Amino acid sequence: MKDLSQIAKKMVAPKKGILAADESFPTIEKRFAKIGISSTEENRQAYRQMLLTSEGYEQFISGVILFGETLRQKTDDGIPFAKILEKKGVLPGIKVDQGAAAMDGSSYEKVTQGLEGLPARLKEYAELGAKFTKWRAVYKIGDNLPTDKNILQNAKDLAQFAKNSQKAGLVPIVEPEVLMDGSHDINSCVEVTEKVLTAVFSELKKANVDLDGIILKSNMALPGKDFVSKATPAEIAKKTVELFKKVVPKDVPGIVFLSGGQSEKEATINLNEMNKIKDFPWELSFSYGRALQDTAMNIWAGKKENIAPAQQKFLNRAKMNSLARSGSYSEDLEE
Ligand code: 13P
Repeated sequence: MKDLSQIAKKMVAPKKGILAADESFPTIEKRFAKIGISSTEENRQAYRQMLLTSEGYEQFISGVILFGETLRQKTDDGIPFAKILEKKGVLPGIKVDQGAAAMDGSSYEKVTQGLEGLPARLKEYAELGAKFTKWRAVYKIGDNLPTDKNILQNAKDLAQFAKNSQKAGLVPIVEPEVLMDGSHDINSCVEVTEKVLTAVFSELKKANVDLDGIILKSNMALPGKDFVSKATPAEIAKKTVELFKKVVPKDVPGIVFLSGGQSEKEATINLNEMNKIKDFPWELSFSYGRALQDTAMNIWAGKKENIAPAQQKFLNRAKMNSLARSGSYSEDLEE
C-alpha cells in the first residue's frame, strides 16, 4: 500500500490543504440561491470552472474534492476538469457517498448511503483520474443524541467505504462530522467527537484498513452555534488537539478540518492556533468548503465580468489557510 501512503502524504503536504468543492445537487442549489442564481448544469460548470482554472492556487492546495458531475465536466475549451488539476499538480478527489437518509426507526438521526454498487463506481472514478475519495457521516448533538446505534452504524459504513476505496487504489477521506447545530457547550462536542472517533477507528481496524493510507476529516471541538458564548481560538485548539491525541492513531498521516459553519476568518484563525501547538504526530490541515469559497462565490454571483476578482478572493483565502498550516497566519495579513 505504498502508493496510497504516498498520495495521502501529498494530500497533507506542508503549506497545503484541500478544497472541498463537492457540493451535492441540493447543497449547491442552496448556496446558489443565496447569490440569486439557479442551479443549472451550465451555472455549476461555470462556477467550478472559475475556481479550478484560477491561477496560482496550486501553491496552497494539494487536492480538490469534486462532485460526480464535476469530475465528468470540461472547461469551455473542452479540457476535462480532472486534466486541469493534473496539469497544476493538484490531486483530483471525489465524493462517493450519496448523502444521508433517516436511520431506521429514528426521526432525528441519519445514516450515510452509498455502499451499494460502490466498487463499480470507484473503478469508474479511478479511470476518470480520481486519486482519493470522501464519505461524510453526520451526527447531531441533542438529548440522548447521537445514539450508540447511530455511531456504530455510521462507523461500520465509513470502514466499508474506506476498505473499498483502498482496494480500488484510492485514498479515503474518512469524514465523521459532529454538527455545530444546537446549544451544547464545547465539552459536549469534545465528548461526542471522542466517542464517534473511537468507534470509527475501532471499525477501521476490524476492516483491516491501512491507517497510513487514509486521511481523517473532522470537525473542531466547538460549542454549538446557539450556545451562549463563543470559545476562544486557544481553547478550541487545545481541546481539539487533546481529544485527537487520545483517539487518533499516529499512523494516520493527516487530519483535515471541515469548516462546518464557521466564518472564513474563524476557520483560519482556529487552524492557525492548532498549528502553533506543534506537539502532535499528524499533519493538521484544512479541507474547507464554505470557508474557502464564500467570498469568492458572492463576488462571482454568476457574472463573467466578476471571474477575475472572485478568483483573487479564492486565491487569498487559500493563501491565508496555507499560512495557518504552520501557525504563521495573522489577521493583519488579510487583504
Ligand atoms: P464545509 O467546510 O463547508 O463544512 O464543507 C466541507 C465538507 O466537505 C463537508 O463535507
